[in-house]
Amino acid sequence: MDVDMADNSKILERDAKHGDFGPFLANWVRHPISMGAVAPSSRDYCRTMVEHSSVDLDGPILELGPGLGAVTRAMLERGIDPGRITSIEFEQNFASALKKRFPEINVIQGDAFDLDETLGERKDEKFAAILFAIPITSQKASWRQDLFRNYFGRLRSGGNITQLSYMWKPPVPAVPGIFSVHSSDIVWNNIPPARVWIYEPDLAFSEIDA
Ligand SMILES: C[S@@+](CC[C@H](N)C(=O)[O-])C[C@H]1O[C@@H](n2cnc3c(N)ncnc32)[C@H](O)[C@@H]1O
Repeated sequence: MDVDMADNSKILERDAKHGDFGPFLANWVRHPISMGAVAPSSRDYCRTMVEHSSVDLDGPILELGPGLGAVTRAMLERGIDPGRITSIEFEQNFASALKKRFPEINVIQGDAFDLDETLGERKDEKFAAILFAIPITSQKASWRQDLFRNYFGRLRSGGNITQLSYMWKPPVPAVPGIFSVHSSDIVWNNIPPARVWIYEPDLAFSEIDA
């Protein structure tokens, strides 16, 4: 699918400068726990997230918690075919804005914590990468691990999960035999400074175990 990248990024740059901070903050005031952040992620941060994601693997890409599309934009700027991207956003207003902004992307308004329901007929699809930006640290560690275990079952071989987080330790503890976790350097140019957490299949464990 052909996309006019230059036009698209101009529109997004303008929206990010003048339009996104207000709606983002307003939503944070109403839903501080599910929003997590007071401002959209910075361009540098989003680029770092995409760089560490397994988006170069063939296949569809799943973005969870896109907000107003800061990470989505970074994927498009990297030249990813918008037809590969499915973005799941819970907030109706954000999902509608995202659909207008990125008509070529498959935006679903729904719950990323219940992908069987939200993906519907596509629930058995395997993804090349999952980019995750939903605050979950208020949940129990075992709940978070179960969630990511479920997500790992939806990845193609070689796929990973990248997570946006301001935490200084892994927001989801590793599950031996299923996934390990490490982080990028801190991206200081972000409010607040944050790391990308990278979750990969725990191959070391299965090799030792084999
Ligand atoms: C911290 S913001 C990240 C927005 C954007 N990706 C960024 O980096 O600027 C978290 C987003 O996740 C969405 N969200 C929260 N809970 C969700 C859920 N259960 N399913 C889907 N989206 C959810 C929020 O509405 C919000 O847009």
